[in-house]
This record gives sequence, C-alpha cells and structure tokens, in this order.
Amino acid sequence: MTIDINPISKDFAAEITGLSIEKPLNDDTRDDIISALDTYATVVVRGDPVSQEKQIGFALRFGSLDDVNGVLSTGIERRVRPELTDVSNIDADRKLFDHNDRRRLFNLGNRLWHTDSSFKRVAAKYSMLHAHTVVPEGGETQVCDLRAAYDALDNTMKSQILDLVAVHSIYTSRSILGFNNFSEEERLALPPICRPLVREHPGSKRKTLYLASHAGQILGLTIADGRLLIRELMEHASQRKFIYTHKWRVGDLLIWDNRCTMHRVRPFDEYLYKRDMRRATVMEMEKGQVYEGLS
Ligand code: OGA
Ligand code: MN
Repeated sequence: MTIDINPISKDFAAEITGLSIEKPLNDDTRDDIISALDTYATVVVRGDPVSQEKQIGFALRFGSLDDVNGVLSTGIERRVRPELTDVSNIDADRKLFDHNDRRRLFNLGNRLWHTDSSFKRVAAKYSMLHAHTVVPEGGETQVCDLRAAYDALDNTMKSQILDLVAVHSIYTSRSILGFNNFSEEERLALPPICRPLVREHPGSKRKTLYLASHAGQILGLTIADGRLLIRELMEHASQRKFIYTHKWRVGDLLIWDNRCTMHRVRPFDEYLYKRDMRRATVMEMEKGQVYEGLS
C-alpha cells in the first residue's frame, strides 16, 4: 500500500490518503505512519467504519494496547471489547445516557484539555479514535501541539520549568468537574503518578511540554503555586495557533501522539444526538520496559 501524507499545517496535523485501516498493514506502511506522527503529531485517516476486531488489529501493529483501560470498573456494563475505550454517549442498547449516568459524568472530563493515561504507570503513546456515529453540530475533537507551545515559551519560563515534575491523577481532572463518585476499588487501582513537565519527544527529538488536566501538583512547590503554573502553561498551550480542530465524518480514524499533544472534545447536544466513538490506545512502553522519568 502506498500512502500519501498531506500536511494540514507546516509541522502539525496531516491527512493520510491511500490507506485502508481494514486491510492488513505491512511494516513499511506502518513505519511511514509512525514517521508522519513523529513529524505532525496527529493524523487523520478517512474511510468506512470498521469492526472492533479490525480496529484492534490495526492498532496492535503499533505496539501493545492498554487493555481494560476504562477507569470506571465498578458496576459498569461494557459495550465494546476490553481493548477499546468507549467514549460514546450511548449504552449497550444504543440509548442515550441519562443526564446523571456515571459514564456520562465521567466522560465529561474529556471536555478538559488532557493527554491520555498520564495518570497511569504506563501512559499512552498513540490514541486511535474511530467514529461510528457522528453528530451534525459540535462534538469536534481538538488537538494542541505541545512542542510548538514549548518552543514559544520565553527563556525565563523554559529554565523555570526544565526540571519540574508534575503529579497526575485521574481524580484531579474529575474533581475539577465535581465528579468524585469513585469506589474504593477504583481509587486504589490508580494512585498518583509523577511525570516530568518537559520531555524530549522520542520520535522527533524535539522538546515538548507534558501537561494535562490530570496534573494537580508540582513537586517542590506549594499546591497553589503548582496549580497556577499548570494553569498558566495550559492557557499558553491551548492558544488557537497551536490547535487542530477535527470535524468528524463517519469512518474517520484520528490518531494523536499523547507524548507531545493534549486534546479535548467540544460540546454538543448530548440529549439529541448519538455520538459513537471508540478508542484503541497504544501504550508508551512495552511490557517489561522501565520508564526512566518515573520517580
Ligand atoms: C479520548 C477523548 C475525545 C472525543 O478518546 O481520549 O478524549 O472527541 N476523546 O471524544
Ligand atoms: Mn482523551
């Protein structure tokens, strides 16, 4: 399969044409996609919706998947296989969630800028979000470029943050929205994780911020100073000039590199429209590898 990479902007976001995610992916094409992701950080592939098995098969060509990666584990009925994360607003009978459904309230956290699974021991490398049902207005996914955001910081800020470490927890981002309804079992499963605020992106060797709404503390700073710094950097990184906005069509696959981007979903009428979206998540490390940045 020969594919074409069509940049959407100079070095952020590209559309890949000539690729069908339904067909087996050979090593050369896989490597071309990885190289496009190293350059552009987020890529779009248009096509038809594929089965869960096909989506999982495609994602597995890029590494191990974060299996059972839903955080909600207590009393939740799953609609998709454990290798996929369901970010839809419908239940197993394709009925819209009730306004106070725990899954809906939890998924509302996706409206905040974040990077996937920074709160887990092994964070996410690539997220591959596939659209089965899209909404006619709103519901876009925005991705922001944390390498460009880092480059645009002034030197004082760059040296201030160089060696700082942030503490990430899923309960931090959810409590921003007042959602604290987690079982003891869920809380114990995901203790806070430390991550450097500045990293080198392995594929491009460019420096990048590593930020998310999951970050609620900076080691060595008071809670207030840490949160203000995180806010400052999030505001900086989410300026319009660093953002790609994806307007969904049925069958799209949007891939982003979580190591150098943040993303969020935009609002839509959740009581009127069904949005059926499933994510495969390739882990940042293979089993047995040790993350050097972990304290
Ligand atoms: C995700 C996510 C955003 C969206 O799947 O990780 O944040 O547009 N989704 O649904
Ligand atoms: Mn996400």
